[in-house]
Amino acid sequence: MKPVPLDAIRPEVGELAPDIGSRPDVPIYLDWNESRWPLPERVLSAMADAVAGTDARPYPDRGYPAVREAIAALADWTPDGVAFGNGGDDMLELIALATTGAGRRALYPSPGFSMYPWAVRLAGGEPSAVSLGDDLAYDVPAFLRRIESEQPSLIFITNPHNPTGQLLPLGALREVAAAAPGFVLVDEAYHEFSGQTARPLLDEFGNVIVLRTFSKAMAMAGARLGYLLGAPEAIFNIRRAQPPFPVGVYTCRAASAVMRQRDALLEMTVKITAERESLAARLAAVSGVSVWPSHTNFLLFRTPMESTVLARRLLDRGVALRDFSRHPLLQGTLRVTVGTPEENVIFLDALADSLSSAVEDSELQVAGMPESPVA
Ligand SMILES: Cc1ncc(COP(=O)(O)O)c(C=O)c1O
Repeated sequence: MKPVPLDAIRPEVGELAPDIGSRPDVPIYLDWNESRWPLPERVLSAMADAVAGTDARPYPDRGYPAVREAIAALADWTPDGVAFGNGGDDMLELIALATTGAGRRALYPSPGFSMYPWAVRLAGGEPSAVSLGDDLAYDVPAFLRRIESEQPSLIFITNPHNPTGQLLPLGALREVAAAAPGFVLVDEAYHEFSGQTARPLLDEFGNVIVLRTFSKAMAMAGARLGYLLGAPEAIFNIRRAQPPFPVGVYTCRAASAVMRQRDALLEMTVKITAERESLAARLAAVSGVSVWPSHTNFLLFRTPMESTVLARRLLDRGVALRDFSRHPLLQGTLRVTVGTPEENVIFLDALADSLSSAVEDSELQVAGMPESPVA
């Protein structure tokens, strides 16, 4: 057999982490922040009706104006200021392709969502990390200094932030947008759980782009749909870098049906938000555990145990959480998605069990970790 020409793979591609979209197969997966709450029956049947009998012979573009208009109505924005694609990740890749590349920089928060540097590297650009503060809040003055010194063509801000769950006020976003020479991508993957949106900034700044997804509050991660909102001229030009048929007809039809059921979705979001607060209180009551306040559908918490060990113990008990301990600011922390009430009880039991067996095994970390705020 002729050998695989590995030299033909671009060096920056060869350096990207392989297989980032795989995870352990356990019954309770609270590691990727999907909605764990089943959609109400009437939403599920509206989706099924919308998809039944779909003609998949033509390309899906015929359905695009309806989806674009529904998203625009949902977001209170103009349809020609909407771009959508195969999930938020796809939108990140699109904006990085359109705005970065050789010799262009993109600032991103660290710790933060790993797809930002991934997308910029893939586009051939230079991702440049701006550290959160020791308290894990955004260091806005640091962003402003780095904007001044690096003149980035793109800045990623996650609001509310992943993995901390913290919310940056609109005033801070305005400061960043006013200082930025290029685009500011405000990633609102979790905005429904926060009650805040950067949507008003779209009326004030031609360089602000808002990213949203159907994967979290809309409970459709498996369908893959994400979108960008921005000035029509910005969206028109960014879409030049997008292939013509980025979303399949089944997803378009299902999403249109779900968008007609806003009340049911809102009701579910309210329930998840209340369960988050309840879970935060019960987590904080576990001895040695501290929890960050969250404006999302997940919680970041710190325990006295080494996170990798704790994550493994939880996995052994059938519960997957996200371990970020490789980041120096996040040692001792894990992130948990707000599950259903039943799942949260199982998680809390597994956590208490794992932490108490740790005492016997002397796997507790030495003291001296920075304090984290308690929810
Ligand atoms: C901050 C943030 N942005 C974007 C995404 C991408 O979501 P998706 O590709 O499922 O739409 C995620 C998913 O976890 C996320 O946490």
